[in-house]
Amino acid sequence: MPNPFRPTFGASPRVWAGREAVIDEFHRALKNGPGDPHRSVIISGSRGIGKTVLLTELEDEAKRQGWIVVRASGREGMAETLTNSAIPEAIERLDPESDRKLTGFNIAGLGGVRSELTEKDSTPRLVTRLHELLGKLHGTGVLLTIDEVQDANPDELTQIAVAYQDLVRDDAEIALAMAGLTQGVNKLLDLPGATFLRRARHYELGPLTLDSATTTLLQTAGDAGRVFELDAAQAASRITQGYPYLVQLVGYLAWEEADGPITLDAVEAVRGEAIARLGTQVHQPSLRDVPPRQREYLDAMAHIEAQTGRAQITSKDLGVALDRPSTSLSDTRGKLIERDLIVPAGWGEVEFAQPYLGEYLRNQQKPRRIS
Ligand SMILES: Nc1ncnc2c1ncn2[C@@H]1O[C@H](COP(=O)(O)OP(=O)(O)O)[C@@H](O)[C@H]1O
Ligand SMILES: [Mg+2]
Repeated sequence: MPNPFRPTFGASPRVWAGREAVIDEFHRALKNGPGDPHRSVIISGSRGIGKTVLLTELEDEAKRQGWIVVRASGREGMAETLTNSAIPEAIERLDPESDRKLTGFNIAGLGGVRSELTEKDSTPRLVTRLHELLGKLHGTGVLLTIDEVQDANPDELTQIAVAYQDLVRDDAEIALAMAGLTQGVNKLLDLPGATFLRRARHYELGPLTLDSATTTLLQTAGDAGRVFELDAAQAASRITQGYPYLVQLVGYLAWEEADGPITLDAVEAVRGEAIARLGTQVHQPSLRDVPPRQREYLDAMAHIEAQTGRAQITSKDLGVALDRPSTSLSDTRGKLIERDLIVPAGWGEVEFAQPYLGEYLRNQQKPRRIS
């Protein structure tokens, strides 16, 4: 039997935990017709919390209702991609017979065209394109999705916002769903042109409850024909701390470890390996470009966490550990929050944004033994 767990970013889980409300609400918004405010959705949260797969799930929901989905990423020129390739391609798919040449196709491969388009030019072009696509649909609509929106160019986002608002005003069947890291999304919401984004339905994804993580483990294994023993699933769920990526990872490794039913022994045997893989897959890349001053701050947090046994670290303790007045640390703190490495936790306190980051940092500090 193939392993049913999917510890891969962007890979939809076999069994969904705890996000049904979001999907239900979106389902209703699409049914309700133009003007339903929940047709624009923003999903934010930390790395590995399940933003991309939820966005995919919203896309699937739209497709089930016969909608056309057009996808862009904040990491590429979004407005340009939508206008010149994603939307023309969607039109082409609907209308393969047409021999009309789409300008978007013709210019797609040519350099230089992009730079000739001023921003003022491309908003109406985006609206025109969307109108063109909407005109081909009967009784359904178009969902635009944008992942990694924290990396989006604010001007482009404004263009999309303006185009979207134009269409909403015309009662067009259009919806918009975006996903990104918490801090980046909050910054976008503060942009002057983003008034309409502030009216979107905003979901901040947090960890799963341990019950819901346990259920996911039991059911994912069960559906694939193997028993995940209850005490084993509960122990596994505690290891994951409800962090969705870890749910898939621990499940995956425990499945590999066990021969038949997944037992507590199997779970305990893979705990270390799961945390080590989390380190190489998540922590290591997220720490790669961290400058020394921010790294010192993180290392101090890791150290204090081990000493006090508390996840929440006070700025006072940090000030003492780093031998600097705690007020002078707020800049570093802000930058680390922006990087999604730490999160504010209560008054003047911070904690790590992902589980086991402190442990990872402490292991890095130990001298490496070379054999
Ligand atoms: N609700 C959920 N239930 C079970 N597993 C989930 C859930 N959401 C996400 N996952 C798993 O977590 C991992 C990370 O999801 P992803 O959407 O790529 O995170 P993000 O985009 O927030 O970084 C994937 O392996 C995915 O299958
Ligand atoms: Mg993602």
